[in-house]
Amino acid sequence: MKFSGYTLISSFTPFHCIPLKKPRRLPLDINFKTASKIRRLSTYNQKQQNHCKAEMVVAKYPPPLFSVAPMMEWTDVHYRTLARLISKHAWLYTEMLAAETIVYQEANLDRFLAFPPEQHPIVLQIGGNNLDNIAKATKLANAYNYDEINFNCGCPSPRVAGHGCFGVRLMLDPKFVGEAMSVIAANTDVPVSVKCRIGVDDHDSYNELCDFIYKVSALSPTRHFIIHSRKALLNGISPADNRKIPPLKYEYYFALLRDFPDLKFTINGGINCVDEVSFLTGVNTPICLCCLYLYANAALKAGAHGVMVGRAAYHNPWNVLGHVDTAIYGAPASGLTRRQILEKYQVYGDAILGTYGNDRPNVRDVIKPILGFFYFEPGNSLWKRKADAAFQRCKTVKSFFEEALVAIPDRVLDSTITEAPIGREDLFANVEGILPPPYETREEELVYA
Ligand SMILES: Cc1cc2nc3c(=O)[nH]c(=O)nc-3n(C[C@H](O)[C@H](O)[C@H](O)COP(=O)(O)O)c2cc1C
Repeated sequence: MKFSGYTLISSFTPFHCIPLKKPRRLPLDINFKTASKIRRLSTYNQKQQNHCKAEMVVAKYPPPLFSVAPMMEWTDVHYRTLARLISKHAWLYTEMLAAETIVYQEANLDRFLAFPPEQHPIVLQIGGNNLDNIAKATKLANAYNYDEINFNCGCPSPRVAGHGCFGVRLMLDPKFVGEAMSVIAANTDVPVSVKCRIGVDDHDSYNELCDFIYKVSALSPTRHFIIHSRKALLNGISPADNRKIPPLKYEYYFALLRDFPDLKFTINGGINCVDEVSFLTGVNTPICLCCLYLYANAALKAGAHGVMVGRAAYHNPWNVLGHVDTAIYGAPASGLTRRQILEKYQVYGDAILGTYGNDRPNVRDVIKPILGFFYFEPGNSLWKRKADAAFQRCKTVKSFFEEALVAIPDRVLDSTITEAPIGREDLFANVEGILPPPYETREEELVYA
């Protein structure tokens, strides 16, 4: 498959050469009646095959200790190009693509699915509620060599969860999700995962969340779940409010680690400035982006298999992603300055302009992810104003940068990522004290329901 944009020339250190920091797992009590029994009830014998696929990916890439969340209209190919220039190791998720879009746009697939090879490790997220289309879409996407296929069971947008009846609404139909995941796994060569919330409306008990995980993992080869640790409200509040109003309940996430020891769970939601108080009371504190990685490391130290960050990685890509390789993966820093990153990005941007016809993508599309590049730095407001004016005139990324970057002082442009501040890594250390009671399964009832 062809990516028509400029392929970034960068010197990647092979991932297997990098000594990875091994997070210490907390010895949480495990008194769950094991999943091996569940597996026997499963009607699928793909476990072995899937295990091999998973091992293949792990051997090739670093583990997904840190990933950038799927965000519609944000984590497009341009944003991911920028993100990859800043961090070589973060896993990058695409925006959600509806299965129908892939199926009906078969003639234009590169526009939706192609990406530069440097973007590995990369995960495609698809959404849908029609098994035929999900199967066809996965088969078509398989040719693009994504490293994992993720299924969206977390989106509360009325367009998705309402009329389309997919996204988070599917949490109420785990049997369907199990079928969908089996269909996806049958049509791809790579591991599959589910991204979900911790509940929907009044279906928000820990046991209901466990029933969902239990059924989906018993009915399909899904072994990795990304848990956005707040429930979704389908009462008409906006998607943005649905990412703010329902309180975060990380204790559900940590209880899943205890109760499903053979599954992998990535924690998501508000991993940017939780402090102990906000964690224990559910009151969110204001964003404090520079110390995000401390919370990520604290979660990994408390046993999380992976940490996924969304909005913070978009609003402040330099500071949030800049520390990932060193602080999370223990790898050397790239040493690139912002200016050098922008030079590489400009080459990419100018090569991709207009590739898909009708001025698509245009300068505005390509520059959009860069707008947060100087978050909180001197000159940031002026840069935004100059950017607004430059959008009216500039037809190339090069001319755009020439016009707008004068707002930013040289010392900002020529700085590399600063040393990560030292801080507490024990924020989740007391989580055991507030975990919900262990999950009690009614296995026959659940699996055959
Ligand atoms: C603009 C925007 C678009 C999003 N689109 C998706 C999406 O396509 N699929 C998905 O699973 N989640 C989507 N999300 C949710 C994020 O993946 C993530 O779960 C959420 O923002 C919580 O993480 P955070 O607190 O680190 O931002 C979106 C979030 C935002 C802000």
